[in-house]
Amino acid sequence: MLKDKLLRPIDPSNDHTPWLWIGTWSMGGEGFGSHDERESLRVLTAAVENNIRHFDTAGFYARGMSEMLLQQIMKSDRPELFISSKGGLVREGRKIKHCASPDGLERQLFESLDRMKTDYLDLYQLHWPDPEVPLDESIDALKTFQRQGLVRFWGVGNLTEQQVSDTLSEERNIPHQVHFNPVRRNHRVLIAGRDRCINCIISPLEQGLLGSGKSSAGISGIGKKDVRNRNPCFSDPAAMKWTSRLDELIRQYALTKISIILMWTCSRPHVHAIIPGPRKIAQLDELLAFKADAEINDLVSSEEDTAILSDEKVRNIVPEVIWQHLERGIETTRQDKDRNLYPQISQTKTQNE
Ligand SMILES: NC(=O)c1ccc[n+]([C@@H]2O[C@H](COP(=O)([O-])OP(=O)(O)OC[C@H]3O[C@@H](n4cnc5c(N)ncnc54)[C@H](OP(=O)(O)O)[C@@H]3O)[C@@H](O)[C@H]2O)c1
Repeated sequence: MLKDKLLRPIDPSNDHTPWLWIGTWSMGGEGFGSHDERESLRVLTAAVENNIRHFDTAGFYARGMSEMLLQQIMKSDRPELFISSKGGLVREGRKIKHCASPDGLERQLFESLDRMKTDYLDLYQLHWPDPEVPLDESIDALKTFQRQGLVRFWGVGNLTEQQVSDTLSEERNIPHQVHFNPVRRNHRVLIAGRDRCINCIISPLEQGLLGSGKSSAGISGIGKKDVRNRNPCFSDPAAMKWTSRLDELIRQYALTKISIILMWTCSRPHVHAIIPGPRKIAQLDELLAFKADAEINDLVSSEEDTAILSDEKVRNIVPEVIWQHLERGIETTRQDKDRNLYPQISQTKTQNE
């Protein structure tokens, strides 16, 4: 079932394992701390050299800069790459607005194609449902782009469980970007999409809070202008308590934090791909090491399984005390409610940031 989901529908011509994609949100200089464009480009180049083919971006990211950065690796390798972008969020001055009407999406798609100097995208996704546009209308626009040959596949992002059930009821294998990791559970959305979606996990390291760098210290580890100040987890005492307990437990075993977090996430039911956002070579290396370990240790699921990694095999590796901690997650009712990575969007009609 997993093989069927992952390898065929997205890109039948691609024989590289596509469960690890690379996201470019932080690479364009969006405000994830200090920005080094050359280092970001080195990350993308090294990813391609290491057989990563799937890259995710959006016109919204860093005002188009992430797409322009990606364009630099597309110059030589375009047919080899699987490029996914998104439309539906725009900036007007300092405001962020939904814009997922058919006309708005068409305009954003052509802007993305221009920035990336390509005449097609492999995947174009609705970044976020627009409360003022019926979801069907936005999706119909994506289907039109597919018929016109502008995009090979269409997908969605940030749908609720209800929206997946109602709007995608007749669909199969639609890529859906779902925010999920040990401190951001969205199990119900994953389950709703099990037969309809390819569940692609965004922010698997909770924007760095679950990584090993300075940002893992939460609000005290990031600067005042860092976009992650808007992420409630970074200032949530329960999340901070949970991550420091995880650090304490991991120190007792010879395992890396990235591997532990990603092993757990990739073995959760109906997780079909992960999209982390490394912006430094050392971070990409951690991801590649994780991928290699998973393959060498034969953790990657067989055809019958419903997730990337076999739950049973992962449980044999992760010490029980750490597993229980991951399973418990943070004890807060926020999990499915407070899902918005861009909390300021909802205020855009009336208020400046
Ligand atoms: N559809 C949507 O609404 C949506 C929303 C969010 C993201 N996404 C997609 O998901 C992608 C990933 O999101 P994200 O950037 O929040 O991902 P993430 O992987 O959860 O966080 C990335 C941050 O984690 C830190 N980090 C530490 N070690 C790392 C490692 N080994 N690998 C990667 N990062 C490490 C880095 O920050 P420090 O260097 O500061 O420690 C990095 O900037 C985005 O680029 C985008 O493509 C989509």
